[in-house]
Amino acid sequence: MKASEKAVLARFLDTASDWLRDGYALHKEEYSFTDDDPPPSPPPLPLAYLVDESGGESLEAIAAEIAGCTSCGLGKTRTNAVPGEGPEHPLVMVIGEGPGADEDASGRPFVGKAGQLLDKMLAAIGLSRDRNCYIANVVKCRPPENRDPAPEEIAACASYLETQIRLLKPKAILCAGRVAAQFILSTGEGINRLRGRFGEYPAAVAIEKTGTLQSDGMIPVPVLPTYHPSAILRDESLKRPAFEDLKLLMVKLAAMDKAYAGECRPLLEKYAAQDPAFSEQVREYLD
Ligand code: URA
Repeated sequence: MKASEKAVLARFLDTASDWLRDGYALHKEEYSFTDDDPPPSPPPLPLAYLVDESGGESLEAIAAEIAGCTSCGLGKTRTNAVPGEGPEHPLVMVIGEGPGADEDASGRPFVGKAGQLLDKMLAAIGLSRDRNCYIANVVKCRPPENRDPAPEEIAACASYLETQIRLLKPKAILCAGRVAAQFILSTGEGINRLRGRFGEYPAAVAIEKTGTLQSDGMIPVPVLPTYHPSAILRDESLKRPAFEDLKLLMVKLAAMDKAYAGECRPLLEKYAAQDPAFSEQVREYLD
């Protein structure tokens, strides 16, 4: 059995065993029967669990495909492809433009100066690539001289990112810079107009918790564009608006995820003490 098939089977058994446990508890009465009273058929397995929306793919399989990809010219000049990294079901997926020199050398996303700033930006709102953030790029191989990726390079790489989003099911997407924001939101608008406003990624599947069961549904994923950390390193004046954007993301995540709201309470309190408008927005999480 291939690794990707094993992963699908493991996921199915996981959800099926939860369902059987919860289904039995809910329908206990119906299951008490005597010998001449045949057991009723169990309720049907929720459809979501029978539909394997991963298409049999896994993050590891995608990474292996990316490592061998020669769909565009960047495949010839790269040292390492950079598929992305982070937990499997992150709260947030951060999407950058494409690997730079440090990322090309290491095969890991955002590990240079911009990456160090990105880590600090994420930490400011209680996020990290180790715990709750997956980090990836629009193109997976370095554009030479750090130029912008060309439209045909973005098109050649698009399905990798789309599949990653579908498998990761992030609760929100943070776009670092214009290239990521334009790609994810399918727009030609500039970053100054896009940043600080939520858009939606319509085709993704988000995780919705229903009681103790998790069901999948077509729920648009909120997308927040902000300035790219490299742009902030070049122009310090972008730091303040980027921080305002991050606080918006923080409020959105607190509304979507109770555990996050609890973990972030000290940060929410700190920012609320500094900013009365923010304090109003997060009052319900601080009461
Ligand atoms: N800039 C990006 O957009 N992505 C990286 O991985 C590194 C720098």
